[in-house]
Amino acid sequence: MIKSMKRLMGSKGNETSSAEDLLEKIKKAPMPKHVAIITDGNGRWAKKRGMPRTAGHAAGMKRIREIIRAADDLGVEVLTFYSFSTENWKRPKDEVEYLMKLPMEFLKTDLQELMKRNVKVRILGGISKTPDYTQKALMEFEEKTKDNTGLILNFAINYGARSEIIEAVHRIIEDIENGHIDKGEVNEELMSEYLLTKGLPDPDLVIRTSGEIRVSNFLLWQLAYSELWFTDVLWPDFSSECFYQAIEDFQHRSRRFGAV
Ligand code: FPP
Repeated sequence: MIKSMKRLMGSKGNETSSAEDLLEKIKKAPMPKHVAIITDGNGRWAKKRGMPRTAGHAAGMKRIREIIRAADDLGVEVLTFYSFSTENWKRPKDEVEYLMKLPMEFLKTDLQELMKRNVKVRILGGISKTPDYTQKALMEFEEKTKDNTGLILNFAINYGARSEIIEAVHRIIEDIENGHIDKGEVNEELMSEYLLTKGLPDPDLVIRTSGEIRVSNFLLWQLAYSELWFTDVLWPDFSSECFYQAIEDFQHRSRRFGAV
């Protein structure tokens, strides 16, 4: 992995082919069906520029839009963003407030394009803890796009994988106790059906920006066999070309799922 990261980092200068060449190249190989992204580094991006952290989130939002378009154009089937973790509530009040208003803004600016692109929005996480205006915007996104059949766009908001797994276990126990399922039926497939990602393929590729090399309680069950791709690029600088690089690297990996 380190070797391939070095290759990518070292290939950022003139020696790389242009974004268009890269795009043509990756289009010829199998696409990951599900790409999940930990969009990290907004705060550091802003700090480097002497700007408030919220300016980093605003810039990050633009990249989210750019990557949605890029993924959709490439025929990726599912795109998941880790937008707000259960730990993010510990951030300064004004920053949390700013983040909670983003769905509302995004609804105003992007719903029309998402409808045109046939994108179906799904929210993963306990949004009942978010302010009313956030819930309203997120529910409107889901409702308005529910019959769309194109790219599935997940936003993980107030999401934590361990509590997702615990909740799934509780519901399985409940269903065993009320006789809906038998203890012997509990297996990996059944567990997947009790998770928030029910019905979706597991991520093939997980991207994390900003140089942090960890998964931070994101989709812990689902990423058992995912390919992980880390980059030092801060999320607000993560262009579609960076996205193509991650996909190109993914296409060179040999996925054995534990076999030889
Ligand atoms: C990570 O940067 C980013 C976040 C915690 C949240 C960013 C999410 C959005 C901009 C999208 C939300 C929008 C919708 C529509 C759901 P960081 O602040 O952790 O950066 P740092 O590690 O450099 O401080």
